[in-house]
Amino acid sequence: MSESTNASLIASEMAHEMGVYPKRGIALVRGAGSQVWDAEGKQYLDFTSGIGIAILGHNHPQVADAIAQQAHTLMACNESFANDQRARLEERLTTLWRAATSAPGKVFLCNSGTEAIEAAIKLARAKTGRKNFVAAMNAFHGRSSGSLSLTFKPKYRERFEPLLGPVTRVRYNDIESLRAAVNSDTAAVFLEVIQGEGGIRPATAEYLQAARDICTQAGCLLVFDGIQTDVGRTGKFFAFEHFGISPDAVTLAKGLGGGAPIGALIASESVCAFKPLEHGSTFGGNPLACAGANATLDAMEKENLLAHVRSEGEWLFSRLRELASRHSCIAEVRGKGLMVGVELKMESKAFLQAAQLRGLLVLASGETVIRLLPPLNTPRADFERALQILDEVLPA
Ligand SMILES: Cc1ncc(COP(=O)(O)O)c(C=O)c1O
Repeated sequence: MSESTNASLIASEMAHEMGVYPKRGIALVRGAGSQVWDAEGKQYLDFTSGIGIAILGHNHPQVADAIAQQAHTLMACNESFANDQRARLEERLTTLWRAATSAPGKVFLCNSGTEAIEAAIKLARAKTGRKNFVAAMNAFHGRSSGSLSLTFKPKYRERFEPLLGPVTRVRYNDIESLRAAVNSDTAAVFLEVIQGEGGIRPATAEYLQAARDICTQAGCLLVFDGIQTDVGRTGKFFAFEHFGISPDAVTLAKGLGGGAPIGALIASESVCAFKPLEHGSTFGGNPLACAGANATLDAMEKENLLAHVRSEGEWLFSRLRELASRHSCIAEVRGKGLMVGVELKMESKAFLQAAQLRGLLVLASGETVIRLLPPLNTPRADFERALQILDEVLPA
């Protein structure tokens, strides 16, 4: 593949894939920290982190070493057998849960976000004996059939219906809409503390508190989908910690493995109603991904990353607001920590492309929002460069 160009790699993938992923015109073949390189040697600042995965940057040495070492030690170990890496990770995740919620917790490990949501759906049914779910408009919870039922966008769902149901969709941040939807048939309410794919829209503290009260009164589970917001992205390990509100369960994935594919459902012991073999996954809790996650959590602690995200986030938001004051095309800057949405008054697509040409990779969230999910340890100089590129590509 040493002769490969961006165009040849894209053509090859387009020829062999099923065609669900539109491509962005380049092929990425190497990364280091917040930088990636395309097949023709051009360097980019990666403020997508692979959609929020590479939270320590690409190829963080500790994560890469841990995965390489584990690959030489033991890669395959199904959950029927215990394993040192898995035991360590599970103990850490339940400790983090207990510190955040004061409740003892249990964990189920899987391989992706959508699988963590599937596990939460089944757990809610197992615990309550009820069938119905409530999810928010503009929510994104994944694309496998169960999680897709909770995802809002009709164009993702319509050709695959009937899906799981019934699912009642409520207006986000609308307490009365939620109150009216939850009843004695509701198994769980699923909410993102900040809607990621839905435009980087933060929930209000009042809404989350009301959701907690409404679920408690109705006897259903409150599940926070932390797949995009958690593992430090907003400056707390779990985004709900900013509000002092505890869900019954949280789903994690994306950044948890520092690049390795892993997902997790963590729930309070009081709602853990699975019976043996009612749920499972062949790859779930595999030592390779667990080693990546353990190294990621070690590095986060060592680098004091949560405090860093809080301070860098504040600085970045103040700089983005300054940018907004000079570009009337910016309608609003939203988010928390290093989960950032810059809402434009027009479609964002052309600006994503223009930024890419200048060496900055950013994401869309909906039609009009530019989404920044930089690695949590991005150096200040790289933020300055990204701000400069945004300044150049956005009209006044
Ligand atoms: C909030 C949220 N939930 C669920 C998912 C699905 O995760 P995955 O793509 O790992 O299945 C995503 C992915 O973007 C997400 O942002």
